Amino acid sequence: MEKPKVYLKTFGCQMNEHDSERIMGILSKLGYRNTERPEEADLTLLNTCSIRENADQKAYSDLGRIEKIKKDKPSLIVGVAGCMAKQEGNRIFQRSPSVDLIFNSKNIWRLPLLLESARKGIKRISALEDTPYSQPYDARRLGRVKAWVSIMEGCDKSCTYCVVPYTRGREISRPLQEVVDEVNRLSEDGFKEITLLGQNVNSYGKSGGEGYDFADLLTQLNDVGGIERIRFITSHPWDLSGKLIDAMASLDKVCEHLHLPLQSGSDQVLDQMGRDYTFAEYEEKIDLLRKKIPNLSLTTDIIVGFPGEEEVDFHKTITALKKIQFDGVFGFKYSHRPNTPALRMPDQIPEVMKKQRLQEVLSIQKEITQTVNQGYLNRVQEVLVEGPSRLNAERLCGRTRTNKVINFKGDLNLVGTLSDILITQVKSYSFEGEPVVQI
Ligand code: SAH
Ligand code: SF4
Ligand code: F3S
Repeated sequence: MEKPKVYLKTFGCQMNEHDSERIMGILSKLGYRNTERPEEADLTLLNTCSIRENADQKAYSDLGRIEKIKKDKPSLIVGVAGCMAKQEGNRIFQRSPSVDLIFNSKNIWRLPLLLESARKGIKRISALEDTPYSQPYDARRLGRVKAWVSIMEGCDKSCTYCVVPYTRGREISRPLQEVVDEVNRLSEDGFKEITLLGQNVNSYGKSGGEGYDFADLLTQLNDVGGIERIRFITSHPWDLSGKLIDAMASLDKVCEHLHLPLQSGSDQVLDQMGRDYTFAEYEEKIDLLRKKIPNLSLTTDIIVGFPGEEEVDFHKTITALKKIQFDGVFGFKYSHRPNTPALRMPDQIPEVMKKQRLQEVLSIQKEITQTVNQGYLNRVQEVLVEGPSRLNAERLCGRTRTNKVINFKGDLNLVGTLSDILITQVKSYSFEGEPVVQI
């Protein structure tokens, strides 16, 4: 009998991408194979995001198309996974009658049972409750050089604009040994780089842990042979301890890149956002990081147009960007989200003003990024070769330890190795380079 086919589409962050790998791990054990064509699928899953309003809209517009496919193929099972499933709940069944099942990230491990129920013809199956941390399950990873590793689920912070504590539930850390075992298996499978995933990896071990913290985890993982690089995302500035900074500085495999969301340069706005730090405190941590890790590359997230953000607050954000000189910024317009305290705050900012402010952030940052990147010209960087370049299959693509993308000419058997590359050209989003020839 032909194997059933699944069409799985992922929206949102790296955590969602990795959840999809875990979903595929479960489905391939159930005999499913992947298809890129929704029309030929027996099972269609959308792994959704709800971080901003337009994320929800994208998923609903896909569901409209899927509904048409299901009209011609009633046996098709349609599932909505992830953060929008949790956020929207039963509204999904009302707006999209073709949907058979909804579940969030904490219920992925229940997928075999959910599918069995759907196959029996049960309609409108919902698995959204905050189950305790599930047993480990094998992911079917997309790449073969770099792997994501989940170290915790959920978030215990209460940033007033954010749906994540609601959609992903309470923060629970995976036991340290379980993470170490998974990374050992990845090393045996030939992976060279791991990225540890959590909404706030700095607080690893606080809930569900056994007396260890994130620095302890990094220290243990640094000893796993075969793994060359360790990265992690995301960090909350409040939980970034001196111990962690020291671990980052001393552990040779931990890369010189940190994504540390600032959100705003105004203390007034940070307070309203519930971020629990001032700009001066953030800056102090950056100074310490840069002192201890000289080549550190820094990226951040900025939200513009948070309720009550006056012109003077916005200018503090601009000043902050100029002062810190980040390598890169992800800028967002504040988006109203259900179940968040910021929704009810007075002085909501008009859309046109949010748009203007975002453009200003992005254009100022573009110049800063260019200046920072020019500093790489004519320098040799250690590059982990990831595969053929996306735009030109004749060339190879890799990243520096500081997470900059480099394209260069080289043999495919370099994939998975560390190569020294001279940077010969700095472009907007990547570098061009030439290998240093070892004889
Ligand atoms: N856990 C991570 C971030 C997860 S969400 C952290 O705290 O760093 C990724 C980014 O989306 C956030 O850093 C924030 O900048 C942005 N974001 C979250 N909610 C938002 C909202 N309601 N409107 C606009 N941007 C938002
Ligand atoms: Fe959201 Fe804040 Fe948690 Fe990040 S730390 S996921 S922004 S609540
Ligand atoms: Fe989106 Fe959920 Fe990630 S809301 S950004 S998929 S944690």
